[in-house]
Amino acid sequence: MKTYKVGILGATGVVGQMMLKVMEEKQLPVELRLLASKRSVGKEFTFNGETLVVEEATETSFEGLDFVLGAVGNDMSKYFAPFIKEAGAIYIDNSSAFRLDPNVPLVVPEVNPEHVYVHQGIIANPNCVTIIGLTAIAPIHRLNPIQRIVASTYQAVSGAGIAGMNELLKQLEDLYLNNEIVPQAFARQIVCNLIPQIGSENELGYTSEEMKFQNESRKILNSPDLKVNCTCVRVPVIQSHSISMTLELTREMEVDEVKELLEKAKGVELMEPYPTPLDTTNQDLVKVGRIHKDISADRSIVLWCCGDQVRKGAATNAIQIMELLMN
Ligand SMILES: NC(=O)c1ccc[n+]([C@@H]2O[C@H](COP(=O)([O-])OP(=O)(O)OC[C@H]3O[C@@H](n4cnc5c(N)ncnc54)[C@H](OP(=O)(O)O)[C@@H]3O)[C@@H](O)[C@H]2O)c1
Repeated sequence: MKTYKVGILGATGVVGQMMLKVMEEKQLPVELRLLASKRSVGKEFTFNGETLVVEEATETSFEGLDFVLGAVGNDMSKYFAPFIKEAGAIYIDNSSAFRLDPNVPLVVPEVNPEHVYVHQGIIANPNCVTIIGLTAIAPIHRLNPIQRIVASTYQAVSGAGIAGMNELLKQLEDLYLNNEIVPQAFARQIVCNLIPQIGSENELGYTSEEMKFQNESRKILNSPDLKVNCTCVRVPVIQSHSISMTLELTREMEVDEVKELLEKAKGVELMEPYPTPLDTTNQDLVKVGRIHKDISADRSIVLWCCGDQVRKGAATNAIQIMELLMN
């Protein structure tokens, strides 16, 4: 069996570390190169019992690699992408830098695996809310097209990287010790609180995170007219995002029919009465519950879902894309 040479760009971050863990769990035939900033040079991590040392990511770091899994922010991703391409590696990116580029496939393997094969060296992983939300509702959309989604998200602090996760842990400690709480990674205190803003606000009053769900879903589902009204909220949960969704369908649908579809769907588990973030953390399924009709509108269904946004919402989805290409 061929061994693939894989670089992780941003190997020391929340997503990069999860990539190591998921590839080890899956026992993929890979040889890894760990890349991060100058700050991390020499840090050591174990993969399959072997010690790997982090190198500084530079313009020449990608020579000889088959794949690069991107786990850095937009600016770094845009900077390194041309060098990855030049080195001949396929770049699977977790940032939002290339998601809406018409030449870049945007892929959730359970939803649109066929898009993965038509690429020009870059494939984008969707936003974590898009991945979790669409994994849950694409099986419904295939049978009964969704025309409009009204969603509210409850997003874990690790969605903001290591800095976000550390901030909640530090504020928990400060609260317990009666120390002053000084927000740094988030705009407001996150412990014993929630923050209804993720990303910057546009002229219509939506944040960048909220617009991603509509724009990315339109591309993935080939549904340019899909309308999404989303409110994204940061909550004091460590890992796993939750989403409440009201789906306006093309025709009326019974709750039992929805449940039957989701019971058979790839990557989904029907969990009644409902999942919580702790039920989905450290595993890859998107769990769905609280399915009922919307009493305020016809042809409308309400559901609740949770998914681990570091795994299925980022690392696992990217690795599934790589596996499709390996096969
Ligand atoms: N966290 C999530 O749940 C999640 C979900 C979906 C998508 N994403 C996306 O995934 C990407 C990574 O997010 P994260 O949460 O893992 O962030 P993170 O924990 O803050 O990690 C950032 C990574 O980027 C590296 N980095 C920073 N500057 C660099 C440079 N100049 N050269 C090379 N590497 C550099 C860091 O290395 P050092 O340690 O050396 O600084 C670190 O490995 C982001 O685009 C994010 O939007 C995150």
